[in-house]
Amino acid sequence: MNHWTIVCFALLFAVPAFAQHTFGQADIDDGARLFRANCVICHGPDGDKVSGVDLGHGKFRRATTNEDVENIIIGGIPGTAMPPHNFTEREAFTIVIYLRKMAELASDSATNGGDPARGQALFEGKGGCTACHNILGKGSRTGPNLSEIGLLRRGAEIQRSIVDPDAEIHLSNRSVRATTKGGEEISGRLLNSDTFSVQILDSKERLRTLQRADLRQYAIVEKSPMPSYKDKLSAAELTDVVAYLSSLKGAEAK
Ligand code: HEC
Ligand code: HEC
Repeated sequence: MNHWTIVCFALLFAVPAFAQHTFGQADIDDGARLFRANCVICHGPDGDKVSGVDLGHGKFRRATTNEDVENIIIGGIPGTAMPPHNFTEREAFTIVIYLRKMAELASDSATNGGDPARGQALFEGKGGCTACHNILGKGSRTGPNLSEIGLLRRGAEIQRSIVDPDAEIHLSNRSVRATTKGGEEISGRLLNSDTFSVQILDSKERLRTLQRADLRQYAIVEKSPMPSYKDKLSAAELTDVVAYLSSLKGAEAK
């Protein structure tokens, strides 16, 4: 095979799957949103949590072309945990282009230029984050434990949580406010609930079980108890804190 046949071959394989669509940043953003809402739960924020599959680096066991990936997203893989999705072809396509960008975006946040050590000092010092958050045994348990936050969320999501805490509150991080029939007001982090009772960790880090029958009022808090740090941290400080939190991967991995 001479040089030109190889080039033509490469073109033949590279072009067809993408030639039929054009796309821009808005499509990549759409794809990112769909991915976060539908795929992260199994594939993880970086697309590498299903063993043998690394969506962000094009490492697939079954799919070879972009079209294969679109078909798998829509149809699922029968007989496996990969479910079908009720997406249009265009929606599936936006996910595919997001997946192609993902590795790039991930390395952006990993090397965001921040200094994890300075970020840690800020977190434990002037940032006051340990007043609510615990990392590997240090700090308060009234807010979510952040020891593994680098595994669960991407840099951009962590940053958004810090500057705009109300934007998205994950189900496992909800707070509740209750008033007992005796008039006591209790608020705290929701740990568990069933038909008759609610378990919370109150603001003094006490585990409390409240009987619903004893409550006059009970509500999930829509606004985050966390203050926004938008105007409290400089851009450089924010970058450092995000670098620190992104580096947290639980106990084993440091
Ligand atoms: C309930 C869990 C679950 C959800 C939700 C899920 N997947 Fe999967 N996915 C899997 C599993 C498990 C596999 C591996 C199946 C196998 O080959 O055994 C897989 C395989 C794949 C593959 C094929 C990889 C290959 O090796 O060829 C692609 C592509 C994929 N998923 C993309 C997505 C996208 C995009 C979404 C969101 C729209 C999504 N998945 C949602 C569990 C899930
Ligand atoms: C007054 C208590 C409080 C303080 C102080 C606080 N947080 Fe939070 N934080 C919370 C609560 C409660 C949540 C869960 C609700 C939410 O997502 O906003 C949260 C959520 C988060 C999340 C998202 C967690 C997830 O699972 O995605 C991050 C990241 C975070 N905080 C980082 C910080 C950093 C960094 C600081 C210091 C600069 C800080 N927090 C200070 C209470 C606090």
